[in-house]
Amino acid sequence: MKTIKDLDIKNKNVIIRCDFNVPIQDGKIVDDTRIQGALETIKYAISKNAKVILLSHLGKVKEERDKEKNTLAPVSKRLEELLSKKVLFIENTDFEEVKKQVASLKQGDICLLENTRFYDLDGKMESGNDERLAKFYASLGDVFINDAFGTMHRSHASNVGITNYIPSGIGFLVEKEISKISSVFCPDKPFIVILGGAKVKDKVGVIEKFAPKCDKILIGGAMALTFLKAEGYEIGSSVCDEESLSFCSKMLSKYPDKLVLPVDFGTTKVFEESTPIYKDITDIELDDYALDIGPQTVENFKNQLQQAHTVLWNGPLGMYEFASFKKGTKEILLALKDHNDTIKAVIGGGDTVACAMENHLEDDIYHLSTGGGATLKYLENETLEGIEAIKRNESR
Ligand code: 3PG
Repeated sequence: MKTIKDLDIKNKNVIIRCDFNVPIQDGKIVDDTRIQGALETIKYAISKNAKVILLSHLGKVKEERDKEKNTLAPVSKRLEELLSKKVLFIENTDFEEVKKQVASLKQGDICLLENTRFYDLDGKMESGNDERLAKFYASLGDVFINDAFGTMHRSHASNVGITNYIPSGIGFLVEKEISKISSVFCPDKPFIVILGGAKVKDKVGVIEKFAPKCDKILIGGAMALTFLKAEGYEIGSSVCDEESLSFCSKMLSKYPDKLVLPVDFGTTKVFEESTPIYKDITDIELDDYALDIGPQTVENFKNQLQQAHTVLWNGPLGMYEFASFKKGTKEILLALKDHNDTIKAVIGGGDTVACAMENHLEDDIYHLSTGGGATLKYLENETLEGIEAIKRNESR
């Protein structure tokens, strides 16, 4: 696949699609990992004296009032800080006005357009991959670079439609993501998969694909409760993904020696931040919420990981939103750090990666993906809509 290095971008206008869909609270960016991840490609384009036009979505824009909380203005500010360079933020979304403002920039300058999903209010132009919007975006530049790995499972005007009109390639972030995540397709054994998060439903594809290939699947998070309920355990008031119960039973009987479920939990009687009460699975009462894996489970998981050479992990092992139920996720991350010399660990999903960043583990883990849904889709299908679009562009 063509990368930014294979395309002539010197003195050109280069459109870079980024995934700046970052968590923002009260106008402040809580985690800028995705912005940091885009810097290499942006800096490279500037070093080639390109005029850089950045595109990204942020959140979902379904009605007029969603615009206020989903403006990219805070991202523009953060980019200026990180690049130590003026970034022109073009908040006006009128096509002619955007063109005029882009034209006012010199080579080596940089601008960020307002959230691509603001155009969703005009008949889903962005998420419906509308041809007029794709052509408009393409008209702003000579070359298109997709560096938005986290969005590559979407077929939108700003990441897929645009490739129909101008030479296109991928940026350094996407190149790195693909190369590192792909290492789990030919893993060094033992190969252990760790799955967490709320719903079994979201992980069905990954379980079906990797169960035959891996040595163990360690299951935590709320999804573990659905597996345990399928085995006949009382899970109290904990979340259960009812529609996946029969899938869980099928997997448990097909892979009885591969699926490793928690044996104890951090529980609470109130669904809010509180001190966990640790209980064996057999002691869960009707009014208990099981919100984190317990210490015996952490030990079991650590023992399994000791021999591993490849680890694939998606989804937190506890109720990540409550700090006191992050412990299990943190301890398993630290175990991966301790075996960093022998384990290649690929971790995807915003919450697990955020936990790794909070604990400053970014240099101690083989790969922390910027993708959530995109990582899961790539693991399932070994390709993504955005990758296919770049390949089609090349073959033209
Ligand atoms: C993500 O955060 O997973 C990507 O930015 C895609 O966002 P979306 O699920 O709103 O399309």
